[in-house]
Amino acid sequence: MTQTPPTPARSPRTAGGEWWRTAVIYQVYPRSFADSDGDGVGDLPGITARLDHLAELGVDAVWLSPFYTSPQADAGYDVADYTDVDPLFGSLADADALVARAHELGLRVVVDLVPNHTSDEHAWFREALAAGPGSPERAVYLFRDGKGAHGELPPTDWVSVFGGPAWERVTEPDGTPGQWYLHLFDTKQPDLDWSNPVVRERLEGVLRFWLDRGVDGFRVDVAHGLTKDPAFPDWSHPVSPLRVSADGTRAPMWDRDDVHEIYRSWRRILDSYEGDRVLVAEAWVAPAERLAAYVRPDEMHQAFNFEYLETPWSAAQVRDVVTRTTAANTAVGAPTTWVLSNHDVVRHASRLGLPVGTPRPNGITADDPQPDEALGQARGRAATLLMLALPGSAYVYQGEELGLPEHTTMPADVRQDPTFARTGGAEAGRDGCRVPLPWTHDAPGYGFGPSRRTWLPQPESYARYALDVQRGVPSSTYELYRSALRLRAELGLAPAELAWAEAPGAGARDDVLAFTTGPDGGVLVVTVFGEEPLPLPSGAEVLLASADPVTAADGVRALPGSATAWLRP
Ligand code: NOJ
Repeated sequence: MTQTPPTPARSPRTAGGEWWRTAVIYQVYPRSFADSDGDGVGDLPGITARLDHLAELGVDAVWLSPFYTSPQADAGYDVADYTDVDPLFGSLADADALVARAHELGLRVVVDLVPNHTSDEHAWFREALAAGPGSPERAVYLFRDGKGAHGELPPTDWVSVFGGPAWERVTEPDGTPGQWYLHLFDTKQPDLDWSNPVVRERLEGVLRFWLDRGVDGFRVDVAHGLTKDPAFPDWSHPVSPLRVSADGTRAPMWDRDDVHEIYRSWRRILDSYEGDRVLVAEAWVAPAERLAAYVRPDEMHQAFNFEYLETPWSAAQVRDVVTRTTAANTAVGAPTTWVLSNHDVVRHASRLGLPVGTPRPNGITADDPQPDEALGQARGRAATLLMLALPGSAYVYQGEELGLPEHTTMPADVRQDPTFARTGGAEAGRDGCRVPLPWTHDAPGYGFGPSRRTWLPQPESYARYALDVQRGVPSSTYELYRSALRLRAELGLAPAELAWAEAPGAGARDDVLAFTTGPDGGVLVVTVFGEEPLPLPSGAEVLLASADPVTAADGVRALPGSATAWLRP
């Protein structure tokens, strides 16, 4: 097999200001990236040993999902100590070594901050339980008395994002049934009270702790959820984070105006550090103007464009979402941050293999209609090439550079996402996109670690997707991502402006999307959403394509269906 030369090292500190405006940031999900000690769970030394892969791929930065001390009730998004590393993943020294090696390779490091809730095993929550009602310790969380004659009913009707009620009743230190605490997610994830200055001060300490250790920024979990309506009204809607409600009523727990003051204060802290440190919002907020408020000049730098992620495979709808969200961000001077996959959604190589118009499922089981693998691969590659040509920043979720599909037939008894249990299996949950990566096609556990153990089972198809069978193979998805990232930088696509264009030869077709980009507008990007090939303009140079051009009946070169090409017309 052809060996691919390593990407030369770049210094993150000298690569120019505001790197985040155009960066491609790779999400590492530590549990599932690479295992160094054979326990079946990925870890920090495993990541450090594989950072060369990311430098070779050509990304600018990595974002690490949580690796902090945690009972792992929500795969680490239940933090029991923000300033230490869970032994499952290594030690603080391992975190330092990871950051140092990444910087040596020219990669910046963004870590996850989970400020909406802690674990119920965090010392702050234990203190709150022990101190009893009315104490300053309880005021760190959202404890309320219950309704009903004996406080036996929850304070409001809110439901948890993971299913079931959003309140849990505690037993008081004297053994009596007591107050209730709010948990927008699992019962093991009590929400902090962000109206309490003590909470603000403590989390600012967490920011400084990691900034002092040299991280380049934070991905802020549930950024739209930190503040709640102090009146705690009933809501009587499902807690659906992106859509406010069908009748437009604003939810009492999402996207409240007073959340922004928190990010202004954090921005001041980041700006006081040397280097160009960033905040990226995980905010499931619509419409685009509400999301853009998170990236105003004195707040965060980026906010994931989840509306884009959720857009069906349709030329008209993609054009509409790109236009609207770019305009909303431009109005506040921020780049748009594109994303197709992450650890919470069905991988896009599988999602796009479902019939167009299928609502995005929360996981897929063997009993569900299965995605069309070949179609998903073709559309997935086309979607990626389209995304990487758009102006702004983009996130790549580990394994998507291999075209990894979702594990869609995982048995119920190995599923670990709390959503699965809390909905009684009605929602499969997110385990299918969190499966350990295949590095080597013929090694135990596909080379995930030194043993055959993997915390979730890998489907047999992963042998076909392993890195070693793709590396150096020009037609592979891995080499497509590498070429796309190299060309995106060389052609100057990310800082450019996009102009919608008529695709030559598309006529009245409504399944073709085209735009020009690049500093001189000299690159034409064309995506065919349907199945019918599109003749390529004669003489056009194909800079990169997600599928090989075909020869149409009349002998003309054509871009096949479900494909994207970058052309120099
Ligand atoms: C969003 C994270 O991405 C998800 O994995 C987690 O379950 C929730 N926030 C709760 O922290």
